[in-house]
Amino acid sequence: MKISVIGTGYVGLVSGVCLAEIGHDVICVDKDKTKVDQINLGKSPIYEEGLSKLLTKHINSNLKATINLHAAVMESSLTIIAVGTPYDGDAIDLQYIEQVSKEIGETLKDKKTYHVVVVKSTVVPGTTDEIVLPLLEKYSGKKAGLDFGVGMNPEFLREGTAIADFMQPDRIVLGGIDTKTQYKLDQAYAPFFDTDKLKTDNKTAEMIKYTSNALLATLISFSNEIGNLCATLGDMDALEVMRGVHLDKRISPILKNGQRISPSITSYLEAGCGFGGSCFPKDVKALISHGMDAGEKMQLLSSVMNINNDQPKKVLNLLSKHYPKLENKKIAILGLAFKPGTNDMRESPAIPIINDLLYKKAIINAYDPVAQEEAKKIFCTKKITYSKSVNEVVKGVDAVLLLTRWQEFEALPEILNACEKIPLLIDGRRMLSKNCLPRYEGIGI
Ligand code: UGA
Repeated sequence: MKISVIGTGYVGLVSGVCLAEIGHDVICVDKDKTKVDQINLGKSPIYEEGLSKLLTKHINSNLKATINLHAAVMESSLTIIAVGTPYDGDAIDLQYIEQVSKEIGETLKDKKTYHVVVVKSTVVPGTTDEIVLPLLEKYSGKKAGLDFGVGMNPEFLREGTAIADFMQPDRIVLGGIDTKTQYKLDQAYAPFFDTDKLKTDNKTAEMIKYTSNALLATLISFSNEIGNLCATLGDMDALEVMRGVHLDKRISPILKNGQRISPSITSYLEAGCGFGGSCFPKDVKALISHGMDAGEKMQLLSSVMNINNDQPKKVLNLLSKHYPKLENKKIAILGLAFKPGTNDMRESPAIPIINDLLYKKAIINAYDPVAQEEAKKIFCTKKITYSKSVNEVVKGVDAVLLLTRWQEFEALPEILNACEKIPLLIDGRRMLSKNCLPRYEGIGI
């Protein structure tokens, strides 16, 4: 199938490259010529495990990039919209969605054959049918359902494992205004014949995406609230409490042979310093404001965000227990990215924590295996030094704040115990054993 993908951001590029890998002819479209040139040279503008390899494999064979949206839509029979939908403080900003819908509509006017337009960007329920579809009709002068189809196909990719998530999907949601649209989308995903496919309407497809992220964010805030309560009540550890909860057979089922399954969902049921990234905070906030506009109170999800916003402060409170005055105290920050496996610092808990420490005049030395360049952009004018290794960053510090669960931080107890003056360790991710050092503090203890 000939497929055009509009937008070569994270979702667009990963989807485009993976659709080429499963045998389609893909044209990626972006208005940024530098990016397009880079992609055509086989160089990925973003880092994602396995992406460069697939890009080099398919570029100039069944994958190309262009700035010419009109030509790309004319050449293809399916167009996937994967442009950004940033949260602007009140709601998601649909300007890019609206702009490309208009341009695709103008092209559809010239098309003689049936075409399907599918939204992959995360958009609030109703956007595809109430904004994209009318714009396509207006600028093409044609009728949806007759001359073209309109669908919604949310993505469930995680940063760091996006290629694997696309190539081994857990579900494929095929939203469409009619069965003809759904059938066309289904054909695009034909190689995934044994994956659960849910054919539905566009609004439901949009809601599935938000609900999935809202659930995971809720689990994290729930665990953090329990963690905070355990810490306040004292004499118990949230880690142990949550382990006990994980053993509920409805969470970790026991098979007939007696073996227990430990599903990855349990890792969202752990206390820590809060969730971040480009998806959970943005999506939960967008759903709250959309729901409130519609007259719903959105009480639970508002609390999910409130708990998350407070969570970085818990790390700071643990630190001030030992160091009430932080001026000139040397603090090592271990982990800047919002999660391991990525250099993404968007909404990372490390940001408010570092800002507070700087405000209190602490001396900060930071280390992250891949996110330091991103951090330098965020803290450009601020006084932070960066180290090249775990060994280096902890030298002579008063306290170590562990904020991202990078595997290499497992070596910390050995490294810190070998220090002349063993620093205080605050484990914001409950990654290390609480007995690993003379002075250990963790969320939920
Ligand atoms: C998330 C969802 O997991 C994807 O299913 C979804 O497609 C994506 O958003 C999106 O909307 O595009 P992502 O933001 O890459 O993916 O990250 P996750 O790995 O889910 O991490 C999000 C937050 O949850 C992080 O702050 C992380 O620290 C926390 N987390 C992650 C856990 O607490 N436990 C884990 O096992 C994984």
